[in-house]
Formats: sequence, C-alpha cells, structure tokens
Amino acid sequence: MTKLADWFETSNDATKVLLRLGARPDVISLAGGLPAPELFPGDAVADAFAHVARSAPAVSLQYGPAEGIEPLRALIAAQMRKEGAGSVTAENVLITTGSQQGLTLIGQTLLNKGDRIALDEPTFLGALDAWRPREPGYTAIDWSGNTPVFKPSSDAETMPKFAYCLPNFRNPTGETMTLDARKALVAAAQRDDVILIEDNPYGALRYEGVQPASLISIADQGGDGPYDGHVIYTGTVSKTLAPALRVGWMVVPQRLLHGLIISKQGLDLCTSPLTQYAALHLIETGVEAETSERARDLYRIRRDAMLAALEAEMPAGVTWTRPEGGMFVWVTLPEGTDAHDIFQRAADARVAIVPGDVFYAMNPAHNTMRLNFTNVPEATIAEAVQRLAGVIEGRARNAA
Ligand SMILES: Cc1ncc(COP(=O)(O)O)c(C=O)c1O
Repeated sequence: MTKLADWFETSNDATKVLLRLGARPDVISLAGGLPAPELFPGDAVADAFAHVARSAPAVSLQYGPAEGIEPLRALIAAQMRKEGAGSVTAENVLITTGSQQGLTLIGQTLLNKGDRIALDEPTFLGALDAWRPREPGYTAIDWSGNTPVFKPSSDAETMPKFAYCLPNFRNPTGETMTLDARKALVAAAQRDDVILIEDNPYGALRYEGVQPASLISIADQGGDGPYDGHVIYTGTVSKTLAPALRVGWMVVPQRLLHGLIISKQGLDLCTSPLTQYAALHLIETGVEAETSERARDLYRIRRDAMLAALEAEMPAGVTWTRPEGGMFVWVTLPEGTDAHDIFQRAADARVAIVPGDVFYAMNPAHNTMRLNFTNVPEATIAEAVQRLAGVIEGRARNAA
C-alpha cells in the first residue's frame, strides 16, 4: 500500500472533527472561527465579479503575475504606509490565496527540516498545520527578563529561523500585545537577526481601546523604500469582507521577496486575478470598510453577551480572557479538568467548543478551551454558555 509521507505521523484532524461537529444543525457551535454570515455583502460581491469580468476580461480572466495584480498591491502598500510602515512600496506586497497561504509560503521558503520556530503558546492551529510538512522544532519566546529571548542561552542550537507573532486579539486567546512588548520584540529581532511574522487577520475587529503600533511600523526605519526590515506582515479580507474570496497578502522585506515569489509560483502560479480584481473593486467602492464597520458593531454586542454569560453562569475556579477585539475568548478550567472530557459532554448537550490543547506546539494546557463569539446571535451564545457551565459544574460535582 502507498505510504503517506512521514510528517503525517505528527498531524491531527482536529480542524476536520471540529468543523464536522460545528456543521450539525442541532449543535450550537462556539468552536469555529467563522464570521457572521448575515454580514456578507452578497449583492455587492455579485456586482463586483460581474463588473470586473465584463469590463476587463482580458486581465481578470487571464493568468496573472505570481506576486499579484499591481493595483491591489499598490493599494495595500498605501494602506501600510498610512498605518506607519513608511517605506513599504507595491514591490513589497505579495498577494496570496488567503493569509493561510502566506504562512505556508513562509515555511516553504525559509525552513529546512529541523529548523526551529519561536512563538508564544497557545497559537494559531493553522500555522502549525502549515509548517508541519517541514518538520520544524519549536521554542517558546521567553518573556521573563527585560527583553524577549528567542533561544535559551543554555541551548546549543542555532537561532530560530523566525518568530511567529499574533499581536492583535490572538487566535486562540483573544489577547493583545502591549506597545512596550511590541517594541521589545522588534528590538530583540533586530539584535538577533530573527524575522518576525506579524499575522494580523483580526486587526480591523477592535471593539474598544486604542490600537498599539504594528510590529512592521515599529521595524520600518522609513526612507524611500522598498522596505527591508525584520518583519513579514500578513493580512486578509477574510474577516472584513468574506473568507470565500481567499484574498490575503504579505508585506515582505525586499531581500526575501524573490524566494517567496518562486515558492508562490510552485504552489498555484497565481491567486485568481478575477477574485483579486473583485476584491480591489470592493475595497475601492467602500464595501469592505462598510462591512468591517458592521462587523465591529455586531461582534462587540456578541462579545459582551459572551462575557456577561460567562460571568453569570460559570462556576468558581473558571477564568477567561476579556478580549478588546477579534473572535475568541479563552477559558481556563480548574486545574486537573480535562477539556476533552468537557468537549464530549458539551457535544452531548449540543454545544461545540475547542479543547485548548490543539493550539500548542510544545506544552499543552489540558484544562483550557477556546470559545468563538462571532458566529451565533447573543441569545444563542447565552444559551450555549449556560449549557456549557452546567456541564462543567456537573463534572466538578462528580469529581468532588
Ligand atoms: C491567526 C490566523 N491567521 C491566519 C488565518 C487564515 O486566514 P485566511 O487564510 O482566511 O486569510 C486565520 C484564520 O482564521 C487566523 O486565525
């Protein structure tokens, strides 16, 4: 029988299992990371596709450049400059098939087998999945001293190839990195010559507070460009327009651009030009800005509903994060509780959650879970949290 490649031995089907459970109509799913479908601008998307196919078939229906269409790259570069990354030009921008593909490209371009990646645990499961075929090692960024450390001094191995960071509303914890932590991280990356990956799919979804400067704007020394600093930035329209467009981008230091474009060619030749032109049209006509505005208004209400329900329902000993944006709340159960056990019992009570251990590359905390608050209405969130609290309370009683 044909044997799968060795790296499959370290893989898991957590995402598939969760999506399957979340798709059951009788189950309230707090498990996925899905936007609210009622926000999708169906008519505007239909009009955008019709417009670009009719008005520019020669470019929108043809193969396009591997690095993406020039007007979309220029628009993203202008946006990045406005947000403080002063030397970013269109040349620095690579359009990807979702930002997930950007993570795959980074792995493919930078990692040799056994190379290491530094990160904060828990982290985005999709990033671990993207890099698994390269069989990397992992190391936790050490924040205990005055400055973040990418590699323990006792460690004989070389520096990690890059450090993966989710500064805004981290998936899965919802936490945001302070400005001081961001500055310290960039200084450490420059000191150790380590590339930082700034993965920012949720940045536009802030419901309160002030946005700290991005890593790339801190790292960018300014000047005429093209940008050539220590941060690769990844963005997407998945959370501000619709995930199905599969349009993301990377802002790449000039010295890494060539390698990433060669990798991109090998993966899919180019991201669909039809979708890129449609996304450009949706951004230029204000549909993206309007959709993300509506998302902020809706998700703020849903986040508040989830936090209120947790406050009202959860038994003593359960704690959770209070995110200023994004899509997730991270719950820590009393020591010794197995979130997989809660997951099974919650499924019996027709609620889906994600046990937290799947978000770890090294040292899983088994008493954690991730809850999503964007995909179901407030009343349903309250009902789901009430059922979940009942399951947790019942478990605690049984254990006592
Ligand atoms: C942290 C993070 N990065 C990247 C992605 C991938 O997004 P997309 O490929 O839809 O742009 C996601 C999706 O949920 C995510 O949570």
